[in-house]
This record gives sequence, structure tokens and C-alpha cells, in this order.
Amino acid sequence: MRLTRRDMLKLGIAVGGAAVLPGRRLLAAGGGAAAMSPSTTPFVVELLPGRGLPPSPQPVAPFPTLPDPGNCVNVDGSTAFHVAGPRAVPANTEFFLIHERPVEHSFHPELPPNVLWGYDGMIPGPTFVAKSGTPQLVRFVNDLPENDPVGIGEPISSIHRHGGFQAPEDDGYPLDTFCRGQSRDYFYPNLPDDGLGQNEHSTLWYHDHSIDITAVNVYRGLAGFCIGQNTLDTLNELDPPPALGLPSGEFDVPIVLQDRLFDANGFLVYDNFNHNGFLGDKFLVNGLIQPFLRVARRKYRFRFLNGSNARIYQLFLSNGQPFVAIGTDACLLEHPLSVESFPLTPASRVDVIVDFSQCSLKDEIFLVNRLAQTDGRKPDGLMSPGTPLLKFVVSSDAADPSRVPDTLLPVTQSPDQLLSRVKLQRHFKFERSHGAWVINGDLFDENRISATPKIDEPEIWILEAGGGWVHPVHIHLSDFSIVSRDGVAPAPLERGRRDTVVIGAGFGRQVKLLLSFGLPGRYVFHCHNIEHEDMRMMAQFEVLP
Ligand code: C2O
Ligand code: CU
Repeated sequence: MRLTRRDMLKLGIAVGGAAVLPGRRLLAAGGGAAAMSPSTTPFVVELLPGRGLPPSPQPVAPFPTLPDPGNCVNVDGSTAFHVAGPRAVPANTEFFLIHERPVEHSFHPELPPNVLWGYDGMIPGPTFVAKSGTPQLVRFVNDLPENDPVGIGEPISSIHRHGGFQAPEDDGYPLDTFCRGQSRDYFYPNLPDDGLGQNEHSTLWYHDHSIDITAVNVYRGLAGFCIGQNTLDTLNELDPPPALGLPSGEFDVPIVLQDRLFDANGFLVYDNFNHNGFLGDKFLVNGLIQPFLRVARRKYRFRFLNGSNARIYQLFLSNGQPFVAIGTDACLLEHPLSVESFPLTPASRVDVIVDFSQCSLKDEIFLVNRLAQTDGRKPDGLMSPGTPLLKFVVSSDAADPSRVPDTLLPVTQSPDQLLSRVKLQRHFKFERSHGAWVINGDLFDENRISATPKIDEPEIWILEAGGGWVHPVHIHLSDFSIVSRDGVAPAPLERGRRDTVVIGAGFGRQVKLLLSFGLPGRYVFHCHNIEHEDMRMMAQFEVLP
């Protein structure tokens, strides 16, 4: 028998320290640092459409409405037991069918293929385009193997569209799981909070969120992008104003950064006993180890996502060129902001414009991570020259009709307006306790509700980190603003709305957040260092109508 994090929690075993596991690809003795991946030549694999640049999923015919629960026949003829739904949906709903299944994946030509788990067998999963006002119903079918020889991941699913504004039953609540042979429907209304344009979303991602096993399932491959489309961010640079005209199509590239560890034979390893936060020594861009991307001499939009379990990045361009940030987490910024570098903490997104028009043909520019990190607890500080993650090869000329206007997403409901309506302040302390992770002293318990905000009544939440640990916290449902960090105004890039915020160690001890909640029901918030999350650094709030 293989002990999982879930088993250990059930057995009440204090994890950590020395232990020997029978699992073939598991490391013993919490020894993440003991293993080292074989060397791989950087920048030999190219990011190409369908490989590293996943296409959009194909819409399918509306699902049959069957009594619930029942055996529903999937489009491909297989049957799956239906866990939730079906339900009445608006007539303009788009339907999608996604199978979670194993896939042979090549991280790098010098490593053997590895069997990963992908949404529709893709690494990363297919990229959804969520059009504002067009609802989507996505049926996820769990076709993951029960007896998996690799031993990383559990074939139990719950799918969270991270940053999305969706009802509790569609939010990937960690206990709303479905197993092999079962399916679950997720309904995404794709409407902004309060119907306000300022709450339109641009960059979301979706990933597994099953209780206690999220880290392994995401590590095994279960993650993908969802990008928003609305009257400003139209995803077509040729559209006239009010469309923003941001770089689009092949010039709009979602980039997920992840780290992975391999054994001497080039097979993926994971350490169930590392609950500081698992780190790899290989750097993936969209599932490929240190790839390259051919670019033209013009502007690009890169949507950077940190999809790592525990690693924090600080990103630079090797030629010293700045990034023009246009969005943080789900929302565009009100105004573009030029930055030489930016931190990217787990689950957060930074949406940037990079202009290659001043480069020469054949120039090579690297995306570099300069943050050293050897332990999940916190980064070690800046290093020089750092690790190049992705090489841009300037290889052609292309017309550039794209624009980056001075005003991107106008904020019509200012934080000050909301602040004046705040009646309640809550305090949450994130710290380590008894070898696990707690919020206000408690491990996650599905029977405990830690806060009951009222719908549309803004609140202040103070998040505080105890000890020398970093916690990248994510709050479901709400796009919040950071009012202050350790009593002072946050850094410019933290002034847009966020759904993640980092606390602890070098990032400061305490943040004051301004939140409001636009849908009733029960949602979670948690540390997005996924090992901490799985070790129960999670709590829930219930929004009262
Ligand atoms: Cu990206 Cu609750 O998670
Ligand atoms: Cu944490």
C-alpha cells in the first residue's frame, strides 16, 4: 500500500522526518534536496501550437438532460456516472466535454516520455475562452486510472476555475469530488460581479482542487488557462475603440511557469513527506523544460501564471527591457505600468506587454528568474545571473496594429467608496502548528465556517503570517484590493485587484484587504503553496444573502 497525504492525515501521522515508502517513484526521508534531475540541454524545444501552446477546446452539442443521478452517455459513447446536474441553463450556453486522462508527455527530448494526467490529455489543458455574457457548461469526465504505476496523484477530481465568479456548486469546492467513471458539470455564467465592467476578467486558470491531494494532482498535470473576452479586452487587436486593441491571436501567449523534479532515469518524482512546499530543479514553460519561442519584431501579450506548487519567481528580461504590466490576477489594471521586474507567487498572474520591435533579427532574449529558492518555506533572495526559463528568438517581421491605451480597465467603483461602507474587520493568522498549517489555530474542517460576510457588504480582512514562512493566500470569489502592507501603501503592481496575496518573510507580515462578495454560499480561502493547502491551511466563509 502506498501512503498518501490523505492517508497520513486520516491516520494522524505527523508527517515529515525520515520514513521509507514502498512507492517506486517516491523519495524517502523528505529528501527533496537529495534528488537531482538529470541534466538537459536548455532551449532545444520549441513552443508551438498544439505543443506548449494548447488550442481551445471544441464546443459540443448540448448534453442530454437525464434524471440526476443517472448514467449519462458521453459524446464519445462511453458512459459516466453523473455526480451533479444536469440543470436548466440559458439557451445561449456553450457546452464543452473534457476528459481527464493519462497522456505520454515529453518534457524534453533528452528525457524519456512520462505519463502525466491532462485535461483532454493536454499539458497544459486546453485554453478556454470565456466570452462575457455567454455562459459555459463544462462536463469534466474522470478517466484517470485507478491503479496508476507512477504513484503521483489520486484519481479523484474537483475542478476550480481559479479567480472565476461562479456559484459555490460550480467552484470546485474541495469536497465536491468525483471519481473515476464519474463526471461533473460546471456552469460558468461568465458575467462580472455586480454586472460592472470594472469586474470583467481577463486571465483565469483551472486546476484540480480535491481535498488533501491538490498538490499531487496539479503536479501530475491537471491545470489549464481560461481567458476572458469582453467589450474592452476583445481578443482582436484590429477591433476599433472602445476595444483596447491589445496584441491578440498568436501574439497573445499564455505562459505557465512550473518546476519539477526527476529521478536519475528522467522520471518525475514527488515527495509526499515534504510539506514545506515541494520544489523542482527543472523549469517548465507550458510543460516543456526551458523551451524557446520564435517571436516577430512587434508587441506581444504574455499572460504569466505561476502554476508551481510552492516556488516563487522574480522575473526579468535579459536585455534589461522593461515589461509593461497590463493586468494582475483576473483583472486588467486601470493603467499600464512599466516594471523592470516583478515577483510571481503561486497561482498569481501578471499580464504584460513585451515589445520586440527595437530588437534585431536573430536577437535572443531570455526570460530570467532571479529568485533563488531551496526550500518551500521561503525564497533565499535575489541571485545573479539567475535561471533563464524561456528564450525568445527574434526571427521575423510582422505588422503590428496592436495598441496599449493609457486607460485599460476604468475603475468606476473606487476602493474609497467601498471603504466608507465597511462595517466589519476580520483577522486571519496563517501559521505552522504541530507539523501542519493552520489559520487562526485551526486546520481545515468542512463543518466550520470561519466568516459569514453579507452579500455586497464590503469588509476588511487582515491577513497575518506567523514565523519565517511565506504564504501565498488565495481567496475564492472576491477580487480584492490591497489597502496596505505592513501599514504602508502596497507596491504599484499590487494596487490592481487581486485574488492572491503573499504574506510572510521578506514580503511583509501583514496585509489589509478590502473585499466584497457578490454571490451567496460557501467558498474556501487558503494558502496556495499547495502543500500547505493540502496540509489543511484552508478555511471557509459563507456569504449570506
Ligand atoms: Cu487556485 Cu482554491 O485555488
Ligand atoms: Cu502557506
